[in-house]
Amino acid sequence: MKNGKRNDCMFELKDRDANGRICKWVVNDHEITTPTIMPVVNPSKMVVSIEDLKKLGAKIIITNSFIIRNSRFKEECVQKGLHEFLKWKGPIYTDSGTFQMFSQGIKDISQEEIIEFQNQIKSDIVTPVDLFTLPDDTKKQAIEKTKETSKRVFAAKQLTKNLVGPIQGGLFLDLRKKACKEIAAADPELFAIGGIVPLMEQYRYKELFEIILTCKENLPAGKPVHAFGAGHPMIFAPLVALGVDLFDSAMYALAAASDRYLTVNGTHQLADLTEFPCNCPECVKTTPEEVRQLPKQDREIILAKHNLYVTFGEIRTIRQAIKENNLWELVQTRLRAHPNLLEAFETVKKHKKYLMKQDLISKKSALFYSGKETEFRPEVLRAKEMIKGMSGQTFLKKPFGKVPTGLKGVYPFGQSIVPGFKEKSAKVDPKDIVRQTIEYQYGFKFKENFSVELSRQTGRIRRVWRGKQLLGTIRANDGFFIPTLEGAKYMDMKKVIVDDEEIAKHVKAGKSLFVRFIDRCDDIIPGEEVAIIYNKEIIATGTAILNKKEISEFQRGVAIKIR
Ligand code: GUN
Ligand code: ZN
Repeated sequence: MKNGKRNDCMFELKDRDANGRICKWVVNDHEITTPTIMPVVNPSKMVVSIEDLKKLGAKIIITNSFIIRNSRFKEECVQKGLHEFLKWKGPIYTDSGTFQMFSQGIKDISQEEIIEFQNQIKSDIVTPVDLFTLPDDTKKQAIEKTKETSKRVFAAKQLTKNLVGPIQGGLFLDLRKKACKEIAAADPELFAIGGIVPLMEQYRYKELFEIILTCKENLPAGKPVHAFGAGHPMIFAPLVALGVDLFDSAMYALAAASDRYLTVNGTHQLADLTEFPCNCPECVKTTPEEVRQLPKQDREIILAKHNLYVTFGEIRTIRQAIKENNLWELVQTRLRAHPNLLEAFETVKKHKKYLMKQDLISKKSALFYSGKETEFRPEVLRAKEMIKGMSGQTFLKKPFGKVPTGLKGVYPFGQSIVPGFKEKSAKVDPKDIVRQTIEYQYGFKFKENFSVELSRQTGRIRRVWRGKQLLGTIRANDGFFIPTLEGAKYMDMKKVIVDDEEIAKHVKAGKSLFVRFIDRCDDIIPGEEVAIIYNKEIIATGTAILNKKEISEFQRGVAIKIR
């Protein structure tokens, strides 16, 4: 415990792709999987019932403590607690009223009172009264609000556990960066990027992406990051790829109330629809014309449910894309929903140094060239950097440029589908393939004598020997050289150091290495093959699940999968 109250939460990375991640998040004994979306529940206006929210896929909900406190439900809520009052057993996140101060011009709410109220109603996640920074704020205004927000987060930390750390700063990236450092020092349970609703309403995605990436770069990696007020399914995939773990949606209900119909490609007016372009249970049983004839209340329920089906459907689509390692491919299709989204993707190039350390070095899915923006995906930029300075014959493949011929079977050069590219069947010496693959992966020239064993069926390299000693194998799916423990001694692999004998024993037995047992490590990238060192000796090799920053910032979970 750094200061203030101790959090009752745990956050652990399970799978990843792009800068997105699938994590297990335990909040007061409730376990959920991120990325996810938290539907906003307003007890005064329940368009979709709690049972239906559950059926549609909600695992955590968010409600507004300020609204409840000013409602006729206040006493009942205090008496029963939120969970019993709402009949919701899972985790409940409460917001503070910051957004109401901004959008309804309500004057400053007492932070102490509202935090105490959140505790009284037994909220699982408590929000301080941060000050909403606007895109139009002058620097001076933004500085003041951001400073005051920091003060309030520190003060709130003394009053509650499981606190949200809101990041403000308007459009000023230096302020956002400073806010990240300050708020992180208060050690909240999660971070929430605030003041972004106007940007989303105005389709100002470039500024939105810039803010999110700036925050992600400057926040500790081991806590969830929430994008306050992001509820349109069109932007979920891009935002997850940039690193957002949590969304909240009032959008499903707000849109329904004004006859709007959400899709992953944007919003339709009910008045404009002749067909429902969706297969959800609501859409298949009726038509837009029929829905238009319904009384407002009934219309609203159907639209809200459809909006939620689409919303949760997109979350599942994103998680599956992370599992298959084709999240960028999904993002590239989603970017076509709005020209400003496509334009905003350039921000990724600006943050390449950060993203190149986040994204997997090898993927289960082939890289699809699906437009010019493919050229600044982190895997592409990194692969281009890794082949810089390598010598010998090359072949030309967009978007990588001149690629050493020995790497024609190595990810991503061999596992990428690019329109117009035709592979020439040039013969390459298997030894050159091994040497260049090692140079590509480990960054040094392999000078040892070795022999190569080819597969009789495919003619591809299977094993690499040094006399009778097996040095390693070439992995079939990505062409990577995977050294044996013996082979590792001839490699210049990145190192992960453990300093505990018991842990070293477990690692030698092939057990996964957890973050908290690592003493220190090189600048490793997710997916890389690394050497585990104990007492200056290589005791095992394994695949990195986390990078260096994450190893030092996550408190739990597997860091290296041992071979
Ligand atoms: N809801 C939407 N934006 C914000 C924000 O910046 N702060 C808080 N507390 N809630 C929000
Ligand atoms: Zn539908």
